[in-house]
Amino acid sequence: MIISGKSKCAAVIGWPVAHSKSPLLHGFWLDRYGIDGVLIPLAVEPHDFDEVVRLLPKMGFVGACVTLPHKLAALAAVDQADETAISIGAVNTITVKPDGSLYGQNTDGFGFIENLKQFEPEWDAGGGAAVVLGAGGATRAVLYALSQAGASEIRLCNRTQSKAQKLCDELSPYLKCEIRVFDWNERHIILQDAKLLVNTTSLGMEGQAPLDLSLEALDRAALVTDITYTPLLTPLLNTAQARGNKIVDGLGMLIHQARPGFKTWFGCEPDVTDELRQFLLQQR
Ligand code: ATR
Repeated sequence: MIISGKSKCAAVIGWPVAHSKSPLLHGFWLDRYGIDGVLIPLAVEPHDFDEVVRLLPKMGFVGACVTLPHKLAALAAVDQADETAISIGAVNTITVKPDGSLYGQNTDGFGFIENLKQFEPEWDAGGGAAVVLGAGGATRAVLYALSQAGASEIRLCNRTQSKAQKLCDELSPYLKCEIRVFDWNERHIILQDAKLLVNTTSLGMEGQAPLDLSLEALDRAALVTDITYTPLLTPLLNTAQARGNKIVDGLGMLIHQARPGFKTWFGCEPDVTDELRQFLLQQR
């Protein structure tokens, strides 16, 4: 990679940031399309976040990806945010506009849906109930995206039910469909008739216990997805695949959520290819 004096500069801001795949992902596309640009990691402590973001226009940056733990602070820091970011309550993509103001978007839900559509084009959000497990930051984006995609019914289930209820109460004004909240003990039976199962809990991630879930009640035609990509095939995805369910891993969500920022900052709609997936997997 060679940077010139004219290079367009973008950043990923996180704390920590060393684990972020954004520099690799954007770097792959910049190289692929021969674009004179760069995306650098900025490790920024929470108490410095606002100041750093405000300096982006002054330093000539075209924009930034925002990762943990700054996504909520990013919504407060931008001058304007799109409806999706406001509804989700978080920003993951900041663009510096020509007048120097900051525009915030949340593309996590877009990435989630695009990933499902890439690997399972037949899947239809309105085709039946979706079961979503978890109530963390990413869950909000998944719920909103499912509603926007036309989901008819969402069943939300989290170990701490009060967190799921709070999420449901906060998001409901922005949703086009109903969310029903269930007790964690009911997670096995609410799979009945579901057409989609989404794990947004940290269970099944590297270093974590697997998700304790019986898939007995799940229709074999249902699609199963996990939003983590470490490991690529979680115990849940392995079990689902072995019993005949179609599965979608979480790597594509990471890749697809980066597309809108790349297009806006560097002026090119990037392709999502198997070569890119392999490149990212090899860099771990
Ligand atoms: P955030 O995105 O807000 O940081 P997170 O830590 O990524 O949240 O979320 C972890 C999710 O995994 C939560 O839904 C958590 O459930 P709780 O809300 O009850 O904490 C879920 N989770 C983590 N460990 C779990 C376990 N042992 N059993 C069930 N759910 C678990």
